Amino acid sequence: MAKISSTPASRSRTLSKELIKAVKKAVKNAYAPYSKIQVGAGVLCKSDRIYSGANIENSSYSLSICAERVALFKALTEGEKKFKILLVYSPQIDFILPCGACLQVISEFAPDIIVATMNNNTEFRFHPFSTLLTRAFVI
Ligand code: THU
Repeated sequence: MAKISSTPASRSRTLSKELIKAVKKAVKNAYAPYSKIQVGAGVLCKSDRIYSGANIENSSYSLSICAERVALFKALTEGEKKFKILLVYSPQIDFILPCGACLQVISEFAPDIIVATMNNNTEFRFHPFSTLLTRAFVI
């Protein structure tokens, strides 16, 4: 988690840089001996705090968790309620997108988030969440 403070003009640039840095750092802690696909994710909250995560696999495969959910759950358990951007990155898959399970979880807590994805050249694609999951399961 990192807290940034500066003038509004420079803040979004600084935040973007911090978010990229956090995700590139987090992916190094991915535990993916089974799929060999390492994923890092970072969520920039309305509070301007950043929480990052990586995928953590398990020999009992279904117990594995995606990077996006780790990052979002970290933010939620620290009391964050509003979210701006989720950045996802995998060195193995250019412009990786959240899986369906993660989209369902994101829909519960951050239906207005922007999903950003990155390749190894630090190029980006941006997707409003509503374009990735048009009709979530709701009760
Ligand atoms: N994975 C993520 O962490 N995020 C995604 O968006 C897609 C998939 C993980 C799950 C598993 O550990 C590995 O990538 C291969 O599916």
